[in-house]
Amino acid sequence: MQRKVDFLVLGSGSAGLIYALKVADKGKVLVLSKSMLDDTATSYAQGGIAAVMYSPDNYEKHIEDTLKAGSGLNKKEVVEIAIRESSERIQELVDWGAHFDKDQSGKFSLAREGGHSEFRILHHQDNTGLEIQRTLSDRAKNHPNIEILEDYFAIDLITQHHLNEEVTRRREDIRCFGVYALNEQTQAVETILAKITLVATGGMGNVYQTTTNPLVSTGDGLAMAYRAKAHLDSLEFVQFHPTSLYNPGERPSFLITEALRGSGAILKTRKGVAFMSKYHELGSLAPRDIVARAIDNEMKLSGDDYVYLDARSISKDEIIRHFPSIYAKCLSIGIDITKDMIPVVPAAHYSCGGIQTDAHGRTSIHQLYAAGEVACTGLHGANRLASNSLLESAVFSHRAAMDALATVDAIQFMEGVPEWDAEGRVLNEEMILITQSTKELQSIMSNYVGIVRSDLRLKRAMDRLEILYKETEDLYEKSIVSQEICELRNMINVAYLIIKMAMARKESIGLHFSIDYPEKEK
Ligand code: FAD
Ligand code: SIN
Repeated sequence: MQRKVDFLVLGSGSAGLIYALKVADKGKVLVLSKSMLDDTATSYAQGGIAAVMYSPDNYEKHIEDTLKAGSGLNKKEVVEIAIRESSERIQELVDWGAHFDKDQSGKFSLAREGGHSEFRILHHQDNTGLEIQRTLSDRAKNHPNIEILEDYFAIDLITQHHLNEEVTRRREDIRCFGVYALNEQTQAVETILAKITLVATGGMGNVYQTTTNPLVSTGDGLAMAYRAKAHLDSLEFVQFHPTSLYNPGERPSFLITEALRGSGAILKTRKGVAFMSKYHELGSLAPRDIVARAIDNEMKLSGDDYVYLDARSISKDEIIRHFPSIYAKCLSIGIDITKDMIPVVPAAHYSCGGIQTDAHGRTSIHQLYAAGEVACTGLHGANRLASNSLLESAVFSHRAAMDALATVDAIQFMEGVPEWDAEGRVLNEEMILITQSTKELQSIMSNYVGIVRSDLRLKRAMDRLEILYKETEDLYEKSIVSQEICELRNMINVAYLIIKMAMARKESIGLHFSIDYPEKEK
């Protein structure tokens, strides 16, 4: 049996659910989540969501900060749209039931993060993402037209290629008819047909050894879109968050929000010396790429495994009111952040690049949209400004939904789509082949394609990756499909794209820093 839905949504984070809620009055919506509904990067977001709320802030300042962080590689018209539509989208989240902290006068209490010239981060304590996810999940679960399937892993987008049609040589003519998805309960691969599909599968942090991303962030949507021949863009711009908790063995790494620095916490060496003023006039609140590179440099100079974040100047009252999760987490491993400094290291955090979309979430493939972290709208350019990501989901999922609503009536389901072909595949009983290759991949990416790069390191990474690619494709072709082999294959595809795009960029700009090319004047 083949399922048929009007709107298929891959991913249950902010991007997927906002879109689902907006198209659901028009037709049947199916949301697939490869894990539990709320197991998303959205749920992990701490600092908040950036938006212009009150004077003296204004749209122009937020636009300027976004362009500055992105080193001007942003699409200016997309930046304008995202920021000018921000207040409306925030109001919608509030109307749907999201609570953001307020001050005693009843106004939203706004925090400040790196690269922002004003206080403009709406937040719910230090667990804003959880609050947004809760709001969206509650609404989606209660909408009669939305069906949510947890533990369903999307393997590949279905295009003309699967119909054995003489695939047109023109990439512009490719159409998406749905996905093949693995039902984790039955281990069967199901064919799901849709008039319109949205990819909202989030990021790819697990390509690296140290990441703040949840385990689900393995770049599946990026790899699926690449295999379907969609255009992808800007993947060399991997954002490393400067301050994740140094706690060896813990995966994902626990984030120490930038908002803590916004409230006065300072970066120091292990000897207790503040160092950020050497690198930027904004000190510990400099843009993320600069702070991450400064920490990387300090660690290399001293040989230390971490630096410290000193939050002791912030009152205990404020810590407990604004940062209860961080306080509790650190306390659980013996660090009282009101008395002790916090050991921190940079960690892979966010992919600025992704599936190229226009300002309506449309990809280069017909009937296929992308939104959220998996998409590259052009908002971030060479570096994302803190807390602009949840904003991007809110604005561009809305716009994708509006566009999908306007076009869905003219689309028919595709007939004659074959079932998944599992012929000749046997059970792979050697999980070690997959787990070991995953570790090798993460080591290659962290050692050669991290915060600081060079031509030689990138070449070395590509050469090593080639071996892993061949071995994994061979294993994939022969094995009964499993989530683990698909994720490894996807991460290798994504790593390839990151390295390839990094090799093509013969300059240092934003998040792509190469010792072989002097940094551009900013
Ligand atoms: P996600 O929320 O990650 O959702 C992805 C969904 O896709 C999940 O449901 C997953 O199961 C599903 N999925 C993935 N692959 C498949 C597959 N093959 N088949 C089926 N389903 C699949 N941004 C901000 O703006 N402000 C912040 O304060 C902030 N803090 C952050 C803190 C942390 C620790 C992290 C990791 C990120 C933070 N970010 C923040 C970034 C932001 O949270 C994410 O970019 C954003 O939430 C991504 O939303 P999304 O809907 O695109 O993806
Ligand atoms: C943070 O809270 O520091 C993360 C914010 C973000 O990634 O936008």
